[in-house]
Amino acid sequence: MATNLTTGPTAPSGHSAGAGGGDLQELAKRHLWMHFTRMGAYADPAHEVPIIVRGEGCYVYDQHGRRYLDGLSALYCVNIGHGRAELGEAAARQARDLGFYTNWSYAHPPSIELAARIAALAPGDLNRVFFVSGGSEAVETAWKLAKSYHAATGEPRKHKIISRYLAYHGTSMGALTATGLPPLREPFEPLTPGGRHAANTNSYRWAEDRHTLWAADAIEEAILFEGPHTVAAVILEPVQNGGGCFVPQEGYFQRVREICDRHDVLLISDEVICAWGRLGHMLGCERYGYQPDMITTAKGLTSAYAPMGAVIASDRVAEPFLHGAETFVHGFTFGGHPMACATAMANIDVLENERLCEHVREREDEFRAMLESLRDLPIVGDVRGAGYFHAIELVKDRDTKETFSHEEAEELLRGFLSGELYRRGLICRTDDRGEPIVQLSPPLIADREQFEEIEAILRPTLAEAWERVVKRGG
Ligand SMILES: Cc1ncc(COP(=O)(O)O)c(C=O)c1O
Repeated sequence: MATNLTTGPTAPSGHSAGAGGGDLQELAKRHLWMHFTRMGAYADPAHEVPIIVRGEGCYVYDQHGRRYLDGLSALYCVNIGHGRAELGEAAARQARDLGFYTNWSYAHPPSIELAARIAALAPGDLNRVFFVSGGSEAVETAWKLAKSYHAATGEPRKHKIISRYLAYHGTSMGALTATGLPPLREPFEPLTPGGRHAANTNSYRWAEDRHTLWAADAIEEAILFEGPHTVAAVILEPVQNGGGCFVPQEGYFQRVREICDRHDVLLISDEVICAWGRLGHMLGCERYGYQPDMITTAKGLTSAYAPMGAVIASDRVAEPFLHGAETFVHGFTFGGHPMACATAMANIDVLENERLCEHVREREDEFRAMLESLRDLPIVGDVRGAGYFHAIELVKDRDTKETFSHEEAEELLRGFLSGELYRRGLICRTDDRGEPIVQLSPPLIADREQFEEIEAILRPTLAEAWERVVKRGG
């Protein structure tokens, strides 16, 4: 596995700094610490920090006025698209009433109303909402809640969490324990104890004779190995982002649900990406028809117009904390921030009024067909995903599924694709934390025009990548 951490949204690799962005360029280079970024690349005066100044619909504009199709919804989060001023207006109205009050022992109308609305949208008895400020905090909270739940129900030794190889669940120390990407984990070891990883659902790389529910059964093996009396929870995304949009096999989540029930292990559905329309449903688990004990969510909850996350817990999980002195001793100052709640309410209004889940369900076949049409390129090995969340796996040899060496992947993604796609006006994600992939997750309002634009940029760029890296290199 390649160990570079800086793959991500496509970004320039060598644009000369043009007129107009001068001051901001200098200030960015001098003062801004960008996340997961090889900042050394910007020591070269010829390399510009990409500065995005404006957004509208599916498009964003940089400081030079260049337009980009935001094929990644920023970071899988601007679900309703850019420039929706009504979300900011809702936050401003809330600021006039009550800019902030805490949810530590107090409540306020926006958090109450949003909690009730989320509970009404979530399936089954997922009726209790604990607000946080982002995805890592949501994962951190869900794991702590799983431990606390078991302790409160007489199983204090149940503390471990099982997740999957290559899965990304966040960067804070607990969430990082669930994250299954060694290059992100190793620099910060020792991590929170109690993490264990099992196979993911990447059947493209399975032996052909493997049973379709093999990966689900691998979770039971992990629970049995650890000892069911020590395992608190299993955390899984409906479609796994890390490694490139691994979809579940038919019946996978039903089998995992049975396994969790058999061993009294809580099932956490990590929907930081997969909720709020991304898979064509408000909650990702609806797409695959399973009932988790908790959902972790963030990003699209506000379409990223305000930083917010949540854990949606079942009545069963909340029940022990509703009696006597039992307390979930956990919280964050900004959890349930009124302005973020107002933003989330306005966002859900847009999702509902503009029928964006339905739109994704109606259009995803067309989106998929466009990506599938790229399979005639020799570099395209696999196309996978669901809803508006898809990945293309790049291979050296389609027949043998041979992948790229570390050096080749470096040249392919960082040396060429990332900068070239951005230069041609497409923001998407190039990544090689598993096998090299290009990932697309456009705003939910994207339609045929955007699909055609994506293809018009991807096709020649991938063809050129093959020529440069495979033909010339080989
Ligand atoms: C599935 C999943 N969980 C957790 C996180 C962490 O979210 P955040 O970056 O908001 O902390 C992410 C971020 O991409 C994610 O995709």
